[in-house]
Amino acid sequence: MSHPTIIFSGNSNQPLADEVAKRLKISVGKALVSRFKNEETRVEIGENVRGADAFIVQSIARGPDIGVNDSLMEMLLMADALKRASASRITAVIPYYGYAKQDKKTKGREPISAKVVANLLKVVGIRRIVTMDLHAAQIQGFFDLPVDNLMAMPVLCNYLKKENLCDERVVIVSPDAGGVHRAELFAKRLNTSLAIVFKRRPRPDVVEVTDIVGHVNGKIAVIVDDMISTGGTLAKAAEAIKASGATQVYTVATHGLFAGEAIDVLNDSCIERVISTNTVQNTDLSRHPKFVQLSIAQTFADAISRITTNRSVSELFYPDESAPTESLPILEPVVAS
Ligand code: R5P
Repeated sequence: MSHPTIIFSGNSNQPLADEVAKRLKISVGKALVSRFKNEETRVEIGENVRGADAFIVQSIARGPDIGVNDSLMEMLLMADALKRASASRITAVIPYYGYAKQDKKTKGREPISAKVVANLLKVVGIRRIVTMDLHAAQIQGFFDLPVDNLMAMPVLCNYLKKENLCDERVVIVSPDAGGVHRAELFAKRLNTSLAIVFKRRPRPDVVEVTDIVGHVNGKIAVIVDDMISTGGTLAKAAEAIKASGATQVYTVATHGLFAGEAIDVLNDSCIERVISTNTVQNTDLSRHPKFVQLSIAQTFADAISRITTNRSVSELFYPDESAPTESLPILEPVVAS
């Protein structure tokens, strides 16, 4: 007997959960996810989940009405409630996996927070993780569970192609050494050259550019990153690339956290357009013409559909490793409303 698929959502990115469910032609399961007066998280699953294949869609990120730690707590308590209500399998769909930057000790007496989050998810009964563009792919190893690390690349590349930001006029730029592999994938798909910016962080959340490797002079530069937090990395990289002769600078990043003054920093920068996806809910971006937000709901819907029917998820991105770039499936980009 097949298990019914039910999607639940916490409060960090309800619009994305709704869109994923809509694309799967199901509705989001009934659940009360709120706060007690004393600010503790309150969860009540509102329907029978006995034997269900349950998916909880929740970014570990701040939303318009929720902080990052409450997002995590909601995920943990929803999973615990589903486990105790006899769901057959619980999958955490985490479009943005928060705490991922704290994936190692950079000096003594620091926690490895990304591992703590992984332990918590396991302990409440989650049996599978679906996420997107983890800050460091090796975080998958923090879990002894299957992890599907989806990519926003097809959606982002499709948009860049549609905007004619491809071919030899364009250079894809990695804003740091850690992002070179990601930038290479974009450059290959878009048939562009590649450049690398080297940066250092003298203090947390402060960025300095030290060097650029590759030719940006006379080119349209597209900087590719996994996330935008304070916006410092992209603004500083754009400034350095422009000073080295790039004619225009665009940026793409999967996760738009837009922390602190990020929107002002990017609005005041020389960047033409800041392109991100809706893994993190941003309600006020539409007021800023420089910002474009693409929906990655279809990618998550496709992954959930494949998981429930035991089909390959990696095939979504690499149907045939030896296939030429042109034959890779390009998902339709949808500008988030
Ligand atoms: C760094 O390793 C990441 O890939 C991003 O470049 C970084 O997190 C962006 O942070 P911010 O926007 O604060 O410079």
